Amino acid sequence: LSSIRVDVSGVSEGSQITVKWLGKPVFIRRRTAEEIEEARSVDISDLVDPIARNANIDGSAEATDENRALDETGEWLVQMGVCTHLGCVPLGNAGDYALDGGVGGWFCPCHGSHYDTSGRIRKGPAPENLPVPPAEFVDETTILLG
Ligand code: FES
Repeated sequence: LSSIRVDVSGVSEGSQITVKWLGKPVFIRRRTAEEIEEARSVDISDLVDPIARNANIDGSAEATDENRALDETGEWLVQMGVCTHLGCVPLGNAGDYALDGGVGGWFCPCHGSHYDTSGRIRKGPAPENLPVPPAEFVDETTILLG
């Protein structure tokens, strides 16, 4: 149907690309070990939205980083680049979602929503985590979206 294949062979650690899928931006990020560690050290009870919002798994699964990352190591995170407040495109490498300072993450400049390195809403008016669209690796360097 509306699937696209994305070559991620040129995406280096600590960077992301944005592709268009169904007319909307999708962020594909190759996370650093530090970002993964930060995402996985979060206490679920601290989250605004406790649901993973991952189209690839059960709709009630909790928002652990493991339930949001594309691969088991957590290196790859694929999510819609659409703020769940009113739909602006968040900026990457925002870094300041946590009160004690954070690494990476996204910030929506429209009304100040902060998303962590797993794309989970942590501060600001957005009600939900950035959704993870249907995605899978079809070979080592190709992600199928949709
Ligand atoms: Fe992102 Fe309002 S649209 S904070």
